[in-house]
Amino acid sequence: MIKVVLTGASRGIGKATALRLAKLGAQLALVGQHSESLKDTLDALESTAPKPLCIECDLRDHQSCIDAATAALDQMGTPDAIIHNAGAIFRQSVEDTTLEHWEAQMAINARAPFLITREMLPALREAGTGRIVHVASISATLGTAGSAAYNASKWAVVGWMKSLAEELRDSGLMTCAILPGSVSTRMLEGSGFEARMTPDEVAQSILHYALDAPIAHNGGVIEMFGV
Ligand SMILES: NC(=O)c1ccc[n+]([C@@H]2O[C@H](COP(=O)([O-])OP(=O)(O)OC[C@H]3O[C@@H](n4cnc5c(N)ncnc54)[C@H](OP(=O)(O)O)[C@@H]3O)[C@@H](O)[C@H]2O)c1
Repeated sequence: MIKVVLTGASRGIGKATALRLAKLGAQLALVGQHSESLKDTLDALESTAPKPLCIECDLRDHQSCIDAATAALDQMGTPDAIIHNAGAIFRQSVEDTTLEHWEAQMAINARAPFLITREMLPALREAGTGRIVHVASISATLGTAGSAAYNASKWAVVGWMKSLAEELRDSGLMTCAILPGSVSTRMLEGSGFEARMTPDEVAQSILHYALDAPIAHNGGVIEMFGV
């Protein structure tokens, strides 16, 4: 049975990914801020088997990330894939960006993937197989007025992923990053950008790299510009 750890499954791209994985009969460990926020996704997965595990974690908190990774390993065993999907954006000019908002975006978007991966890596290395997929953003290739902290965090996660990929050489493991453009989710609301793809299209690509693509994609950055 495929075992997957997925963050940010309450809505949007994460929910679409959870639904696709559940259709394949995967055992899911859904890492979410609160169990109430995951309710929608859990309801949609009610009739699927196996029942998803629900692990509460505020990704802004470093100990919470470490505890979530440990709980997922304890309750599910070594995953076949970790999908770092959760993300947050605060659209503000540089002058209006508070330290708290800067640090929250860095913590959720860039630091959490490092902490969760670091905790799980020994088990993955022992298994000699496993994929670590990051949902970054096309914002990791450019600058955007009004979201400097978000863009910086997405460039950071790609830099982290590429360095991790170098450390994973010859291990049987792989990591990569999907860089979507504008997706029709709550995150896009109020951005002024027109949606260019659906969450399910991104989910389809996530599954491809998490389950099927050759591990020769290690270190790869997959850009999705949309239609
Ligand atoms: N939408 C786009 O246009 C777009 C484009 C490029 C990349 N992306 C990336 O795609 C990923 C998914 O985004 P989306 O569009 O599906 O956005 P979304 O609908 O806003 O979903 C964001 C997810 O992240 C979770 N999350 C946020 N803060 C968290 C925290 N402190 N602790 C735990 N979970 C937290 C949310 O959980 P709660 O429900 O508990 O808040 C939610 O499940 C993100 O990494 C985003 O940056 C999105």
